[in-house]
Amino acid sequence: MSTPQIRLPLLLFVLVLAGCGGRQNTLDPASKQEHAISTLWWVMLTGATIGFAVILLLLLLGWLRRNRPNLPFGLGERTANGIVVVMGVALPIALLSLLFFWSDVYVIRKTEAPKASSTAFTIDVVGHQWFWEIRYPGTGAVTANELHIPVNTRVNVVGTTADVIHSFWVPALNRKIDLIPGRRNRVLLDADRTGVFRGQCAEFCGLQHAHMALLVFVQSRPAFRDWLAGMARPARAPTSQPERLGRRVFLAQACSGCHAIRGTPARARVGPDLTHVGSRTTLASVTIPNDPASLAAWIRDPQHPKPGNKMPALGLPEPQIRALVAYLESLK
Ligand code: CUA
Repeated sequence: MSTPQIRLPLLLFVLVLAGCGGRQNTLDPASKQEHAISTLWWVMLTGATIGFAVILLLLLLGWLRRNRPNLPFGLGERTANGIVVVMGVALPIALLSLLFFWSDVYVIRKTEAPKASSTAFTIDVVGHQWFWEIRYPGTGAVTANELHIPVNTRVNVVGTTADVIHSFWVPALNRKIDLIPGRRNRVLLDADRTGVFRGQCAEFCGLQHAHMALLVFVQSRPAFRDWLAGMARPARAPTSQPERLGRRVFLAQACSGCHAIRGTPARARVGPDLTHVGSRTTLASVTIPNDPASLAAWIRDPQHPKPGNKMPALGLPEPQIRALVAYLESLK
């Protein structure tokens, strides 16, 4: 084989491998549910590899002996027929039945929506084009794109949508659920170690479907309690001159027509809740980092990093943008 012929499959193989690892890995489970899914996957891959290897060997054997009239190893006609019946009929029936019960009875039950009384609390996740609205019912806490849960705690996630069909999927934690208009689908999150796990919308939902990611922060229980208490509080008041100006700009300009900042007159739900936006690590559904330069660039031209999203460029003068950034980044 010449070099370019090898290079393409090798490149594809490397690209496929690049999909493994990182914080969004279905084969690096962080929950009992995902452990069941990945174990089934490895068993199926191993079984299929062995089956494929046996078939290739038999094909090779047939090709090597293509000019000989008799069967190999001194096999008689009856034994050969027996092998065909066992390997070609009985074994597949037995293996596929076993896999059916393992996947459809054991794994599906293990990963299905939790019983109402079996979870510690509920989180509402609402899919939007293109971000995740996250609400903690009963606490007043609302955030976006960065979900926090306590470790070793059964959490009931209820998924709905504000527009089209989305799909909530955190590969290290559990299977996916579709967010369908008019329906409430549920999934259990029960992480067994702390860490940050990436999730991704898994149903094509328009232009920026690929830029609809989320982060799940699995925290110790005390850290989670502190976080939730902070999230439930209204926004802090501005303390410096630029922050005060930023708040005025936010409320006077179109910003407040789409976003909410609890504790101010801004209550809209078209875009993400910004009450504690300064405490998030990313913006625009994990598309850009949350730092003053990125936030300023985002406000200046939101259509550049995420074309088609609902946030317009308002054409604000630079001093107003600087003030807005100072105010929003102060909202920890
Ligand atoms: Cu939301 Cu794809």
